[in-house]
Amino acid sequence: MSDNILTEIERLRQEIRRHDRLYYVNKAPEISDAEFDKLMRRLEAMEEERPDLITPDSPTKRIDWNPANHLATVKHIRPLMSLDNSFNEEELRAFDARVRKQIPNQEIEYVCELKIDGFAVSLTYKNGLLTLGATRGDGQTGEDITANLRTIRSVPLRIDDAPDFMEARGEVYIPIEKLDEVNAQREANDEAPFANPRNAAAGSARLQSAKIAASRPLNIFIYSVGEWSGPRLQTHAEALDELKRLGFRLNPHTRWTRSIDEAVEYCHEWKKRYREELSYETDGVVVKVNSIAQQEELGETAKAPRWAISYKFPSEKAVTKVQEIQIQVGRTGVLTPRAVLEPVEVSGVMVSHATLHNMDEVERLGIRVGDTARIERAGGVIPRVIGVLINLRPADSKPFEPPTSCPVCGGAAVRLPGEAALRCVNPSCEAQLKRSVEHFAGRPAMNIDTLGPKRIAQLVDAGLVKDVADLYILEPKPLTKLERMGNGTAGNLLHAVQKSKEQDPSRLLHGLGIPFVGLTIAELLLEEFASLQAVAAASMETLEGVHGIGEKVAASVVQYFALPANRERIDRLKEYGLTLEREKEENGGPQPLEGMAFVMTGELPSLTRSEAKTRIEEAGGRVTSSVSKKTAYVVVGANPGSKLARAEALDIPILDEAKLLKLLDG
Ligand code: IVH
Repeated sequence: MSDNILTEIERLRQEIRRHDRLYYVNKAPEISDAEFDKLMRRLEAMEEERPDLITPDSPTKRIDWNPANHLATVKHIRPLMSLDNSFNEEELRAFDARVRKQIPNQEIEYVCELKIDGFAVSLTYKNGLLTLGATRGDGQTGEDITANLRTIRSVPLRIDDAPDFMEARGEVYIPIEKLDEVNAQREANDEAPFANPRNAAAGSARLQSAKIAASRPLNIFIYSVGEWSGPRLQTHAEALDELKRLGFRLNPHTRWTRSIDEAVEYCHEWKKRYREELSYETDGVVVKVNSIAQQEELGETAKAPRWAISYKFPSEKAVTKVQEIQIQVGRTGVLTPRAVLEPVEVSGVMVSHATLHNMDEVERLGIRVGDTARIERAGGVIPRVIGVLINLRPADSKPFEPPTSCPVCGGAAVRLPGEAALRCVNPSCEAQLKRSVEHFAGRPAMNIDTLGPKRIAQLVDAGLVKDVADLYILEPKPLTKLERMGNGTAGNLLHAVQKSKEQDPSRLLHGLGIPFVGLTIAELLLEEFASLQAVAAASMETLEGVHGIGEKVAASVVQYFALPANRERIDRLKEYGLTLEREKEENGGPQPLEGMAFVMTGELPSLTRSEAKTRIEEAGGRVTSSVSKKTAYVVVGANPGSKLARAEALDIPILDEAKLLKLLDG
């Protein structure tokens, strides 16, 4: 019996590892998320039954592994070096000349890689098990961040066929478009936002709490081996192949080249491509000598190898004149200042605007119309002003005065207590409406691709859309009366709008634009409540009981749904056929507990907590963590907690295990 369980647990783990890899590394999942969850739940239930069989490499232990040594210092077995830089083709060719001078009369091949602008880490595996994840630190000594790195799903906790001892090195990063989401989370906890994805990645990877780290959209690209006890590797390309075979996530754009000419070509090519094509920040290319024997012969200086160099993409900073300071109105009414600039080229792109974030920033920079400003364009992020050249300031310039009214609707601009932002508090401000619809139709939300800002402005200006729900009752005829809108375009637009009805309700929830409810939070909420109506009905207390939801988010959700206009919007969206509920897994039979919320307290005589949870979920119910009026039943075992008293106070029916089992059997 015991052996059977062990075999079954191992089989499940293998399978989960395989699906993790297919999903997070190869981007080619074979099963649905629901099916995957089911496998995980099964494993959790079995491990709960047999805690003696739990191992730290189990997929269930990504997050709550005990981080005894968090941020303890660790000495690297081999130093993590930095790289010498080159800034143009000439310097790159000079590097090649140095290499060929030191090892004359040999063919030199190079491997070209994107230089990921994130946070360098080292992963150590002993007998295939991840035993240490460390920061680069000063190159000699780093910090132990194993617990956090384990939460990155593309980091294997265990690898088959690995050499006894090996180290993989790579760069942890946060995708550019996820920065806003991370910052919303920070803001909800009253923490200062990160200035760029790199800081966000570094800050997240070094967090004290692996639970919070797990909620950050961290990912990793592995780019080399460090220590390696396997058969000797001949080339860097071979090392990358080995890493790939072992299941690590490698950057797909790496290229093997036969000469410096081809390497130069790669650099020029990516200098043009990186902004448009990559979802993560890069600051250049790394060119590495391919042959390990040649690498060894070339050796290294005190800080960097002689066999590699980074080619930095051209500077992204520029200097230009500020022609105007405009105020833009966001979807929640926040008034954001931006600088209108005399157009200037920044690494091949004309820039004519830069964000100034908020009034505090305007004050901090002391920026005025007529000033000469230094601007920076990082990755795909919008350009920002980083400083002002005071001695170039015209004598007659005046300090910028914060607006007292909304530039679009003329409503009052107020600074709410505790906020850096000025807001237009007129709920029917058209600018806010346009931004809300843009957010709603945006890619992370309902993803209505034919509905861009220009179209939205047309629809709002024509009075066809006064609320996002109006999108779903648009008729072809009035549409075709709009400028540049023929039958075909109108048809495409309506079709795209109709299609968006099928989007997952988490996207819809995110699309509503509730402050602090990014896609991650929206997903968390739907996972817990299964429908938008259930989220809308949840109390402050219930919401706060959800893991990952703090007071600020909970308050924001409650506030949103307390407004009749917002509840009405949900009713309308439902009426128009949008998906407000998570689809249940189709398992043919009737679902006896469909839509019911259960809360468990105390120990049940025969079922473990997670077995009971799995069975309730398989019968269509949900298990939530706190008792509210929405709770259908409270399941009570031995030594119940305060939830029992609360259930009694709210008159919620109480079940013991026997009654629960009966209910489960329908
Ligand atoms: S190779 C000895 N490859 O750049 C070789 N580094 O300035 C050193 N980086 O701290 C590392 N992408 O974190 C290498 N494809 C890549 C890289 C890369 C980013 C970072 C790395 C290192 C820094 C070197």
